[in-house]
Amino acid sequence: MKDLFEKIYKDKGPLGKWAAQAEGYFVFPKLEGEISNRMKFQGKEVITWSINDYLGLANHPEVRKVDAEAAAQYGSAYPMGARMMSGHTELHEQLQNELATFVQKEAAYLLNFGYQGMVSTVDALVSKDDIIVYDVDAHACIIDGVRLHHGKRFTYKHNDMESLEKNLERATKMAETTGGGILVISEGVFGMRGEQGRLKEIVALKEKFNFRLFVDDAHGFGTLGKTGAGAGEEQGVQDDIDVYFATFAKSLASTGAFIAADQEIIDYLKYNLRSQMFAKSLQMQLVVGALKRLDMLRTMPELKQNLWKIVDALQSGLKSRGFDIGTTQSCVTPVYLNGSIPEAMALVRDLRENYGIFCSIVVYPVIPKGLILLRMIPTATHTLEDVTVTLDAFDAIRERLENGTYKRMSAALIKAMGE
Ligand SMILES: Cc1ncc(COP(=O)(O)O)c(C=O)c1O
Repeated sequence: MKDLFEKIYKDKGPLGKWAAQAEGYFVFPKLEGEISNRMKFQGKEVITWSINDYLGLANHPEVRKVDAEAAAQYGSAYPMGARMMSGHTELHEQLQNELATFVQKEAAYLLNFGYQGMVSTVDALVSKDDIIVYDVDAHACIIDGVRLHHGKRFTYKHNDMESLEKNLERATKMAETTGGGILVISEGVFGMRGEQGRLKEIVALKEKFNFRLFVDDAHGFGTLGKTGAGAGEEQGVQDDIDVYFATFAKSLASTGAFIAADQEIIDYLKYNLRSQMFAKSLQMQLVVGALKRLDMLRTMPELKQNLWKIVDALQSGLKSRGFDIGTTQSCVTPVYLNGSIPEAMALVRDLRENYGIFCSIVVYPVIPKGLILLRMIPTATHTLEDVTVTLDAFDAIRERLENGTYKRMSAALIKAMGE
């Protein structure tokens, strides 16, 4: 009989197999110093374009003060136990009420981590007779939620309304035989390429089909919409989102998440979300910290204005210099270049070591072979000078990519990787 670990000794998985070349530098890098536009990487200062601290709250002095005071008052244990058993408090309830109001829903429920919360919410919303229809580019937490579903599921082509309609037709036929309903899942903002989910058009399909809409708005919450209530508000369809999700891990620069919906739906979910019923409640310092951050979102519109000043400068600067930034409609700023994985590695090393620019790279198999995606996250802490320095650096690295410098620099690696 085979040893269970045999496969692990042989193969570290699609990403793990690059560990020797990538670990500590391209993956699992250690960014040091206080979270801001400039941090330290391997002892050198870099402009950081890879942290989802959109509104610059992570290191805001008022936030740091409240976090520290809450930690001193409550420690990191309180409250102990799951919400249902012994982990419920007035402040958890207050935060839920304030979040619900902020995203214009009747009720909200806290989740101790966004990922598990999403998985559980998908799981709790459907029974085996129901059908899920979801965007093929959905975040891993949606995919994992769908994996728990015992019934049928269909994907539609990314943001393609014709494909969604076709799949809704199939789902409707199937639901008529199973006696179930249909759940459509989209993201508010797709975090890799920055496109907004086409929520307005999805909602319009409710005229023709009977389904409920669940939106993961991790990147839209706090950054989009007049009040910061996200992609639904931005597109004028917040009311038509049946279940809304956002995490604290981006605009709120913390840990935790929530779902919001009609009261009856939340009342059902709080008794059926397995990841919350059987896990420790969100700890109090995070609850108090989230109340403070939410208050700042409501009362300091300049945070979002500062963010968008940087987003606009970065995106228009890249476009005017002829860079391909795809079809982003959010703060997420992708830059697409042509090149192999070894070239991408040489390019990113050059950016970090010689230009002091730190951004994430995404390559095949996440995106098609031959493409390099530099993914940039502007924040309210960046300055216009950061943008100019970055744009100049990008001009330089594009030239070196095109004149074959990185190909020559990575010749040995290209050979080793068979590129
Ligand atoms: C679209 C999306 N959904 C869910 C999550 C998970 O949230 P959390 O980090 O709170 O677990 C993320 C975080 O990366 C995300 O980008």
